[in-house]
Amino acid sequence: MNLTERPRRNRRNEGIRRMVRETELRPANLVYPLFLVEGSGQRVPVKSMPGVDRLSADLLVEEARAAMKAGVAAVALFPALSDSKKDTRATESKNPNGLLQTTVKRLKDALPELVVITDVAMDPYSTDGHDGLVKDGRILNDPTLEILAEMAVSQARAGADLVAPSDMMDGRVGFIRRALDQAGFEEVGILAYTAKYASAFYGPFRDALDSAPRHGDKKTYQMDPSNAREALREARLDVAEGADLVMVKPAGAYLDIIRALRDSVDVPVAAYQVSGEYAMIQAASANGWLNGDAAMMESLAAIRRAGADLILSYFARRAAELIGGGPARS
Ligand code: PBG
Repeated sequence: MNLTERPRRNRRNEGIRRMVRETELRPANLVYPLFLVEGSGQRVPVKSMPGVDRLSADLLVEEARAAMKAGVAAVALFPALSDSKKDTRATESKNPNGLLQTTVKRLKDALPELVVITDVAMDPYSTDGHDGLVKDGRILNDPTLEILAEMAVSQARAGADLVAPSDMMDGRVGFIRRALDQAGFEEVGILAYTAKYASAFYGPFRDALDSAPRHGDKKTYQMDPSNAREALREARLDVAEGADLVMVKPAGAYLDIIRALRDSVDVPVAAYQVSGEYAMIQAASANGWLNGDAAMMESLAAIRRAGADLILSYFARRAAELIGGGPARS
């Protein structure tokens, strides 16, 4: 055959493939979500997320240290609280001596270079399991903003570098921004869950925190999976309100949304490879149905290729260790 173009020439061996590779995943692109529990020496496995444990602060610091050693730049923290700490107004979320706040302090004391991201939403603290205040079965928007702002300020005071509102209330980014500024935290950034879809892929996470909604679903605030244009609208609002980074969640089934946001905003775009995405790969791998590490790296490369600057993933530590290279040197 007399072919001028033979694309396979550029795939001939690993040296050439490496040379022409279009997308690179660095450990510093990875954010490691961690679940925390009260106590010390506690490691409680999450059944639906094999390989993920809820950790008490002492063990969490060690897990974060190991991830950081592999080059991971940031952790995102989610507290698992006992029912006795929950109420309808998520009061515990602003307790300066709460589980989240004390753990942030411990992490920043032990690992000052680690970027600590905290979640702003009511669900882990709420007896209703919703991200907003519930009244007569409805999720109230504006009264929720006050609670979220107090929560965010309390997290900033504990030492969080970035607060990450995952609640999807309207106007929350601007409201939180003003509250942070007024409290003197103008340097604390906002990672906005901008296009957060009402997804079935959050199931295992809700097991981990025991935070499933006690009634109803989250469809009046999280986005309809069928919508793409609406994500651009959310992004426009979040950036205008002061978001430092925007996020798409989940990641794998929403690569088009990641690309659309990357092409339309000038802040970094993060994507969250959520609990269900993690669980699917781990379950198939445990059954010998696919090569877990290979599927993990491929899924992360795809999210990056779609345009994500940052990826939140339960695989962060493992992937960073496989990529190698260790922590950034200055
Ligand atoms: C809730 C929150 C959820 C996740 C992160 N923050 C669950 C939800 O919206 O019900 C999901 C993360 C995951 O599935 O890994 N504020």
